[in-house]
Amino acid sequence: MQSFIRSAVNGAEGDGAEVNRLFPVQAFMNFDPFVLWDDFTISAGAGFPDHPHRGFEGITYVFQGSVKHKDNLGNDSTVSSGGLQRFTAGKGIVHSEMPSAEGATRGIQMWVNLPSRLKQLEPDYQQVNSDSVPEHEISNGIVRVLSGEGSPLRLNTPVVYLDVKLDAGGELEQAIPAGYRGFVYVIQGSCEVNGEAVEQGSAVFMEDITAVNVSSDSSSRLMLCFGQPHGEPIFQHGPYVD
Ligand code: CO
Repeated sequence: MQSFIRSAVNGAEGDGAEVNRLFPVQAFMNFDPFVLWDDFTISAGAGFPDHPHRGFEGITYVFQGSVKHKDNLGNDSTVSSGGLQRFTAGKGIVHSEMPSAEGATRGIQMWVNLPSRLKQLEPDYQQVNSDSVPEHEISNGIVRVLSGEGSPLRLNTPVVYLDVKLDAGGELEQAIPAGYRGFVYVIQGSCEVNGEAVEQGSAVFMEDITAVNVSSDSSSRLMLCFGQPHGEPIFQHGPYVD
């Protein structure tokens, strides 16, 4: 497969939430092992009260504001800007996700499928605060390792998930493990990914590659997300992935 570019679709989700959704959308339901990618902005007072999930793992990464996560396992904790929350829905979890009381909360929620042999896992929750996220300086830029080498985040599916900020002239060369597939999504500005121009709110999807080269001639921010596909059908319906 060659690479291809898709733009996120803007829409309202819940009450007071604006979501730029890369997938699932009608024409593009998932990219095994990834099931959902939402670039969200939630206004103060809005949010997602108690609702169920099962069959996957979700990661919420907060850029701005904070998110309070409360679940039926007894977890009740708030992550602020630069931090992550991971819930493993497994055989079933009920949780609420409520942004901070003041100002807008911005971030990314991403779902990774669980393979069928792990769908019945006990649910679990983990929080990684900003000061525990490893950071590396690169040429005219900085990389934060949300998942992958050095990150304390534990997932049942191997995923390399990076937050990359580039200044003008910034460049990242990232090795991709054999068999992984994924995408680079641009949060802000624009950049070139393996020679292809990608704009804010769009992503370039890739597989069968050994490295991703990202460069920018202006200030930009992007997320790199690659994982090992399970090669199983993904049946996502609402909050469930069976
Ligand atoms: Co949820």
